[in-house]
Amino acid sequence: MDSRAFYGRWAGVYDSLAAAPGVRSWRERATAALELAPNDTVVEMGCGTGANVPHLRERVADGGRVLGVDVTRGMLRRARTHADRTGQSIHYVQGDASCPPISTADAVLATFVVGIFTDPATVVRRWCDLVGTGGRMALLNFQRSDRPLVAPLNIAFEAFVRLSAPGGRLSRSSQAPDFERRVEAARDALRERTADIRFETFAGGYVGLLSGRVA
Ligand SMILES: C[S@@+](CC[C@H](N)C(=O)[O-])C[C@H]1O[C@@H](n2cnc3c(N)ncnc32)[C@H](O)[C@@H]1O
Repeated sequence: MDSRAFYGRWAGVYDSLAAAPGVRSWRERATAALELAPNDTVVEMGCGTGANVPHLRERVADGGRVLGVDVTRGMLRRARTHADRTGQSIHYVQGDASCPPISTADAVLATFVVGIFTDPATVVRRWCDLVGTGGRMALLNFQRSDRPLVAPLNIAFEAFVRLSAPGGRLSRSSQAPDFERRVEAARDALRERTADIRFETFAGGYVGLLSGRVA
């Protein structure tokens, strides 16, 4: 099953999990890392059901613009059912975030997305070009934790990767190494192109937030 079919089928379930209280705090931190100002234009790549949108909308205020790009129509349809994820300054576009359908923005956010792309480094470089020098980028992702006390939870991480890597769920072998390689490739590309780089972790080290300003 490809990514679009997978997320199309699970859009309702995803929507109910995406704004859970713990997850919401990671979203607040990710949007804060963009250092948005009123009137900014921010693009969220792979916006899903729009769980980050209220946080972004609040930061760019009435004069700003939030653009959510997602390839799955069902996810965008869900986003539009939430009153706090719609409004004059919020726009959704069904499209491929690896070739973004927009040429300029002040900031780009991607949460739980870069691990899906086959060539995440190229995609992240395109996003850096899109925001240009001075623009801010933030990537939020699940990752394996290296803290000894939580190591058993790596099993849960494996389960997450299987569920979030469409097409690989029936395979017996672990999908985690590929997923981790893709996330790391995206992070490396961001580190290469940005300054003022910050990295923080949440959830016992299982979630990592990398942000930077394009140099
Ligand atoms: C794990 S969900 C994350 C959704 C959202 N960012 C969040 O934090 O809740 C991954 C999302 O990426 C979208 N997606 C996958 N491949 C994509 C692509 N090439 N272009 C745009 N969106 C894509 C899926 O449709 C899905 O909504």
